[in-house]
Amino acid sequence: MTSTPPAQPLALPIAYLNGEFVPVEEARISPLDRGFIFGDGIYEVIPIYDGRALRMREHLLRMQRSMDFLELRNPYPLDHWEEIIGELVSKNGGGNVSIYIQVTRGVAKRDFSPPQGLAPTVFMMANKLPTPSRELYENGISCISLDDFRWERCHVKSTSLLGAVLLKHEANQHHVDDCVLFRDGYLTESSSSNVCAIRKGVILCPPKDNLILPGITYDLMIELARRAGIPLEMRRVSRREVGIADELWLTSSTKEVIAITRLDGRPVGTGEHAGKPGPLFWKMFALFQDYKRSLPAAESTAKAAV
Ligand code: PDD
Repeated sequence: MTSTPPAQPLALPIAYLNGEFVPVEEARISPLDRGFIFGDGIYEVIPIYDGRALRMREHLLRMQRSMDFLELRNPYPLDHWEEIIGELVSKNGGGNVSIYIQVTRGVAKRDFSPPQGLAPTVFMMANKLPTPSRELYENGISCISLDDFRWERCHVKSTSLLGAVLLKHEANQHHVDDCVLFRDGYLTESSSSNVCAIRKGVILCPPKDNLILPGITYDLMIELARRAGIPLEMRRVSRREVGIADELWLTSSTKEVIAITRLDGRPVGTGEHAGKPGPLFWKMFALFQDYKRSLPAAESTAKAAV
């Protein structure tokens, strides 16, 4: 007898839509919203630990840059964003949550030309943010190498995500957790995370150009590594270097830093660490957990100077 898995809740119960807090099941937007019709919008995902935001300011600044790229008017000043994010967290019971923000160009007659002066649609929801399990840290994840066929504006956090969806789907079909992407023979990132390679004690980080999203977790990992004196090079990383890497790491707001321990069916690394998170991973893990523990409550209300 097969049992049906319990239906997953859509999100935590309270969402925000255009100035109002509403039950997520009741939030409604027009099918003519340009976000729905064209993917004409941007988004952010902000991790909150025990009510304390990790790098709120940096997330809001990146959101502003995404809006600037689309020439989309930011409907709220930064302190208002911080206020409503804080309110959404507390209305959903606080704790560890990720806040999803989506701003689209708004509702209009279907026309490719972006109309001027539309009222942007603002939607926010909260989701539980489970800390990756000890087992996940210890086992790492498996990935497949895929060609990065996404567009050339990957630095914009746009809601046009079909490329990422199809890449993740391909990884799922190969029964692995995610993908490592290559463009013209060089490492870019993963479907929804950044990736770096470790070789002979040096962290090799793909540059923050238009081919990857400049991850906030990526920046934090780089900052923690530099502070701890771990050698790091920000430069193009070839497919060959990834193939002979001692370690591979993946970073994102929802996954923190985790090790990729199998790539294309083969263990990552050699010797006693083959197929296991390596020694530098455990060093970074400790640095990251320390950072999380030291998050000041004030960080959640830091004022961003745009
Ligand atoms: N994804 N690269 C891509 C393509 C991403 O979509 C993400 C984030 C990252 C990591 O960025 P950050 O460290 O700022 O989360 C890199 C989010 C979590 C998502 O789409 O759900």
